[in-house]
Amino acid sequence: MTMAPEEPKVEVPEGYVKLTIDGEEVIAPKGELLIRTAERLGTVIPRFCDHPLLDPAGACRQCLVEVEMGGRPMPKPQASCTMTVADGMVVKTQLTSPVADKAQQGVMELLLINHPLDCPVCDKGGECPLQNQAMAHGRADSRFVDKKRTFPKPLPISTQVLLDRERCVLCQRCTRFSAQIAGDPFIDLLERGAHQQIGTAETADVLDMASRTSSGKPFQSYFSGNTIQICPVGALTSAQYRFRSRPFDLVSSPSVCEHCSSGCAERTDFRRGQVMRKLAGNDPDVNEEWLCDKGRFAFRYAQASDRIRRPLVRDESGELREASWTEAMRVAAAGLAVARDARGVGVLAGGRLTLEDAYAYGKFARVALRTNDIDFRARAHSDEELSFLASHVVGTEGVTFAALEKAPTVLCVAFEPEDEAPIVFLRLRKAARKRGAKIVHLGQWTTSSVHKTFGELLACAPGSEPAALAGLASHAPDLDVALAAEGAVILLGERAAEVPGLFTAVHELSARTGARVAWIPRRAGERGALEAGAVPSLLPGGRPVTNATARAEVEKAWGVSVSDQPGRDTNGIVAALADGSLSGVVVGGVDPGDLPDPELAYRALDRAEFVVSLEMRPSGVTERADVVLPIAPDVEKAGSYVNWEGRRRPFDITLENTGALPDCRVLDTLAVEMDADLFTQTPAAAYGDLSRLPESSVRQAFVPASADGSGAGVRLATWRQLLDNGSLQADEPHLAGTARAVVARVSAGAARELGETVTVSTDRGSITLPVEVADVPEGVVWVPANSGDSRVRAKLGAGHGAVVSIEAGGE
Ligand code: SF4
Ligand code: FES
Repeated sequence: MTMAPEEPKVEVPEGYVKLTIDGEEVIAPKGELLIRTAERLGTVIPRFCDHPLLDPAGACRQCLVEVEMGGRPMPKPQASCTMTVADGMVVKTQLTSPVADKAQQGVMELLLINHPLDCPVCDKGGECPLQNQAMAHGRADSRFVDKKRTFPKPLPISTQVLLDRERCVLCQRCTRFSAQIAGDPFIDLLERGAHQQIGTAETADVLDMASRTSSGKPFQSYFSGNTIQICPVGALTSAQYRFRSRPFDLVSSPSVCEHCSSGCAERTDFRRGQVMRKLAGNDPDVNEEWLCDKGRFAFRYAQASDRIRRPLVRDESGELREASWTEAMRVAAAGLAVARDARGVGVLAGGRLTLEDAYAYGKFARVALRTNDIDFRARAHSDEELSFLASHVVGTEGVTFAALEKAPTVLCVAFEPEDEAPIVFLRLRKAARKRGAKIVHLGQWTTSSVHKTFGELLACAPGSEPAALAGLASHAPDLDVALAAEGAVILLGERAAEVPGLFTAVHELSARTGARVAWIPRRAGERGALEAGAVPSLLPGGRPVTNATARAEVEKAWGVSVSDQPGRDTNGIVAALADGSLSGVVVGGVDPGDLPDPELAYRALDRAEFVVSLEMRPSGVTERADVVLPIAPDVEKAGSYVNWEGRRRPFDITLENTGALPDCRVLDTLAVEMDADLFTQTPAAAYGDLSRLPESSVRQAFVPASADGSGAGVRLATWRQLLDNGSLQADEPHLAGTARAVVARVSAGAARELGETVTVSTDRGSITLPVEVADVPEGVVWVPANSGDSRVRAKLGAGHGAVVSIEAGGE
């Protein structure tokens, strides 16, 4: 008699459990939710409230399954999205259990009792989890014959999110997102039983239920669009997109956000050559499944009616007129050659370029214009900053989003995460909420970033940040010790360049504690432009122009010789144009209003003998340009951004055949017209040309600078809010409606003296704003840098750390 072979025993590793799902044995990590384990086996249990990035709620009861433990069945079907796996558990889903199947059908029937079934006019129709799951798991007919619950509709939760309450299935995804992920509890569950509904403080007022709202606050969130995307029905819709398209009419293309330096994955949906909406892409390494509202809603700048579609050439009468590409290229090339051979041409490349376009600007400067006078920094900048970027940032792949999430301590220096890199803010909040990370903000007042990252404020006057960091061991010894722990991180924002000595203080702090430093610029193209060599002292790959070996590598690849002298930076180029020591300039989409001294920038452009502008829409440069060359927005070209982590974020063209050309192609043709070859005809060619350069082994050493604590008087603190006057937010009234209030923040003592409004002045001009009290240090006033009438650079000609005067009242 032969014995049947014994089944091999499956070893269960430490930290795992063995259970059975639909008769199949499975090993799962302890603590895993049943719904996920089933998913890994390929069994999809229907669900509405479950979301992998939200805490489990068990709100909708759609995911019911039959569970048996220790040989005894549980008395009722269980929610698989809240129950964790256990050793010996036996689970039957709708596939093998008539009980689970009936329970799921019952829940579906209950949910549909009050659901309006208005799918043909609902934005979600065609991509609706309720619609799909009702088809897959619901009953074919309804037994409900009574009147459905109705509400006045839609209720605006904000200018950009609309609520149709009768469609809501009370899954609480939106409320959990708001409270857990964003930390903005602007939306909440109101009432109970059959009257339970989603609402806000405002909607509660409409319903005369103000006392019953638990958030009790008006809408304020930079992340509200995510609630639209994760709502599993059409209860939350976008004011911008509502009734504009059906999902099945849209073509979707993966894309990358062009707004900040996080490089979020997106999906761009378009129809008949027009972008209809943007959704968050799922990229666990970067933005997980979230977007900020700017990334989601600000895209119509590219469809504006004033977009420059044809080249423009200034004729003898001084007027700009349309010209053919051939004529415009000929005029631009001739004018630039004359200016180059006179006293030279500088290049202001701007911080919004793709890596490929920035490379083309850098190569155009060196090969066609024979200069190192190029800078992407269309904002306040310094030599100290460039030295820091050359020694600590370019070519490095250091801190990542994942590292931020795991960091025990993060110190934010001159960096307001929610305003300047919102997805970084979400990671910091997650690190603090889930892992108890200590987030410390060196700043001027307890902003919402401080509150919502459960953080601490290390308050200092603007300009005294270097001293605060230098004295950390004595005035914040705990932090000093915490920064020495494995994984600690210092995040440095763009306004560090406005504080002399701050990069030096960070360099020293990092060297002393071992904390890693990440530089997080505000604009999407800055890191890529640095890597591509669009700066006066560095060639691609961070090669110093002063180093013969590094220079030779580039010279060999490009077939030209490159000057060994660092060029002029943005301020230097502007000053040289203004005093006539430079003859011409090529401007790549830079708004003079963003430059450190806009008044000087306009004077410089007026004085320049020849100005070539590459831009999408008219600006202060257009009015002063001799030749204007239109360039393509992101959706009409391919390319890549390098995000703050140093991660390349490539994207393909979304809208094809529009005739718009990327900057790299325009510059390539212009160079040919000037008898030079860039080999950047396409973004792919530009990237290929850049990638063929050998790995650079030369790195510049950091040159420290001294702090400048001089100047008595009131100090100005300022940074740009996420939603402001930025040109890429043009034509977005729904988005603009959720921008934060434009106020000046002063201490309680100063507010008592000032009253309701304050006028902040320099010898250039003044800004008058309503006063709001905050915990700013005495002798400090904070105003938004570019919101409403608060245009700090343009009106005050000053920036963060400047000495200003303040007085009560004003126009
Ligand atoms: Fe869920 Fe949408 Fe209702 Fe919010 S509005 S509870 S996300 S169905
Ligand atoms: Fe499980 Fe909603 S998905 S209760």
